[in-house]
Amino acid sequence: MVIPQHVAIILDGNGRWAKSKMMPRNYGHVRGAQNLEVICEDAYKMGIKYLTVYLFSTENWKRPEDEVNALMKLFRSYTKTCVKTAMKNNMKVRTIGDPSVLDEDLRESLRVLEETSKNNTGLNFQIAINYGGRDEIVRAIRKVAADCVAGHISPEEITEEKFAGYLDTHDIPDPDLLIRTSGEQRLSNYLIWQLAYTEFYFTDVPWPAFTKEDLKKAIEKYNSRERRFGGVKEE
Ligand code: IPE
Ligand code: IPE
Ligand code: MG
Repeated sequence: MVIPQHVAIILDGNGRWAKSKMMPRNYGHVRGAQNLEVICEDAYKMGIKYLTVYLFSTENWKRPEDEVNALMKLFRSYTKTCVKTAMKNNMKVRTIGDPSVLDEDLRESLRVLEETSKNNTGLNFQIAINYGGRDEIVRAIRKVAADCVAGHISPEEITEEKFAGYLDTHDIPDPDLLIRTSGEQRLSNYLIWQLAYTEFYFTDVPWPAFTKEDLKKAIEKYNSRERRFGGVKEE
């Protein structure tokens, strides 16, 4: 079986999963964060080199204040646990998204997480927090425009490759497989540039209940498809 090099996940359905158990939404988020630790380890053992997960979108600020606060609190504790798991499992952790509006202490914890794990050589683990694909592209355009004004690059020199170098994911290959849990079949502003040729896999399983077996199923499905990239099937 071919193991995709880069798997991106939209971990969705925490709230609905909790509701089905007659529990508050935040319980779903807590269990979702615990499951992420487990799946990270499984992914690495299966041979996945890059895992990129959507933790909080630029649109998620529109949720009720209580829920946003609870999520930020959860990210604070998750970030601290993640440093330990990263060092135990040789994971290199990076964040994508715009950290500037996050609270200073959370920003600092994320910085420490990246710095502490930067020389690890196992799983490359990307956390998308306050991430939006459109926002990422606009931030990249601002940087390109500034470089144009400064004379570092001319408009004619801007190619797809050069532009991709301005994105948050500049040193990360594009995902081979995208998984979205819990039934919705949309991107919700996730990695809209990077997913141009990615295979999509949707499952009804909500994120807190998603297991290694579900990950295997997604990879099996990925294997049964023909990747084309605009060409024809290679014989
Ligand atoms: C995903 O679960 C986690 C975040 C977006 C933070 P949801 O909170 O979206 O759960 P549902 O989709 O409402 O069930
Ligand atoms: C996408 O899930 C964002 C994350 C998983 C962080 P949402 O649950 O927020 O997406 P919509 O609102 O259903 O599109
Ligand atoms: Mg959702």
